[in-house]
Amino acid sequence: MNFENLELDISASVAIVTIARPTKLNALNRKTISELTDAFRQLMEDPAVRVVIITGSGDRAFVAGADISEIRDLDAVSARRFAADGQDLMRRIESAEKPVIAAINGFALGGGLELALACHLRLASADARLGLPEIKLGIMPGFGGTQRLGRVVGRARALEMVLTGEPVDAAAAERMGLVNRVLPADDLLDTAKALAGQLAKAAAESVRGILQAMDIGLESTVEQGIALETARFALCCSTDDMREGTRAFLEKRPPQFTGD
Ligand code: COA
Repeated sequence: MNFENLELDISASVAIVTIARPTKLNALNRKTISELTDAFRQLMEDPAVRVVIITGSGDRAFVAGADISEIRDLDAVSARRFAADGQDLMRRIESAEKPVIAAINGFALGGGLELALACHLRLASADARLGLPEIKLGIMPGFGGTQRLGRVVGRARALEMVLTGEPVDAAAAERMGLVNRVLPADDLLDTAKALAGQLAKAAAESVRGILQAMDIGLESTVEQGIALETARFALCCSTDDMREGTRAFLEKRPPQFTGD
């Protein structure tokens, strides 16, 4: 896979996708959104990849938003296409059957925070700043921010962030549950890799079942969510990994999952 605005590194079942427009603080232009969509389509089909990490190049930004120089020229028709393409990417990530970790190495603003919100886990460097400043540009979030932020931090905090456009620092983001963990900048990627390595060794059917049951189940009624959980639980119990995991516990040894 050759990309203009992305770097891709696959090693030990973990893919690291680095958004690489450092002179524009990794802002998401159309090309980058299209490349991310292509990259995710391929990574989800690649059996050599079990976990994905997304980060930004340089030491200032994860992603400083959608590219304002492209937003400037939108009209109502082209804006719909632009938002639909971004929404498609975010939903593709959110509904992925492989865990996706955002390693937020600096500014995560606008589309950058929306991208992080679509990921399953968020780790942030201590100097990260996260916000949805679209209101200051006379627009509003268009890649899912009005929907996902409130689901993560609660309606009142989300409304404050979206209506004021003011970012929060990493410590505040951790307190409100917007990021899972805050790390010194130098440790961020290594910690993300260690977490990804741990998830890559987990039983594959368990990972897929958990991601789907929580993605769909949390947006359904409890009854529907429980029905889905039951079906996915049953599927886990048809795997060799389930036999291995339970046997390993009883034999007092670590399990060796194979993904079968
Ligand atoms: N779209 C396009 N270009 C962007 C961008 C964005 N979202 N964010 C930053 N850039 C560009 C700047 O225009 C500048 O380019 P230039 O050197 O060619 O002029 C470069 O990245 C560096 O940004 P700069 O603003 O000079 O850095 P800073 O340290 O003074 O400020 C930020 C950093 C993140 C506070 C500031 O860039 C910013 O507010 N960005 C926009 C955030 C935003 O509104 N995002 C939501 C978009 S919908």
